Amino acid sequence: MRTDNIILIGFMGTGKTTVGRLLTEKLGWTFVDTDQLIIEKTGMEIAHIFAEKGERWFRDQETEVVKQVLEGSKQVVSTGGGSVLRKQNRETMINNGMVVALKADAQTIIARVSMNDERPLLQGDHKQKVLELLEQRKAAYDFAHYQLDTAALGPHKLCEEIVRLWKTFRSS
Ligand code: S3P
Repeated sequence: MRTDNIILIGFMGTGKTTVGRLLTEKLGWTFVDTDQLIIEKTGMEIAHIFAEKGERWFRDQETEVVKQVLEGSKQVVSTGGGSVLRKQNRETMINNGMVVALKADAQTIIARVSMNDERPLLQGDHKQKVLELLEQRKAAYDFAHYQLDTAALGPHKLCEEIVRLWKTFRSS
């Protein structure tokens, strides 16, 4: 393994950012959020990018950011929920750190994403959109080294579990 990174993947609303920030504090590493980097790189909000440039252009930015970030080390990387759709990104992730998929059931995701209506792919009927995308992406996160259910464990317990997994992963 070239780089020490923990990469959090998962559907929107699975807690990647919350867990990622806590984990960063615990490990004393750097926190990186790929959506945030895209906003900084382009000078545009995510919803604005989708509206003005389209999803494909957003995905191109995302691929560049994933590649660039994972050249670094000692980072907790919170990724956008659709970043795993490109094979190139999945390969970059799996080759440059420990990939942890955060999971939650549809009900939990719907409740969480309903608190924020800025996500471009969920405009309109949140519930319907989440169910459709979950169905389309049902196997998309399975390439991860580990899967964790976030509906069952709070953020602190999840962090402890991820640190434990990291110790095993690093020594394997
Ligand atoms: C997306 C998830 C979002 C963001 C964009 C597209 C997706 O990130 O990258 O709105 O396709 O699932 P979060 O998973 O952090 O919400």
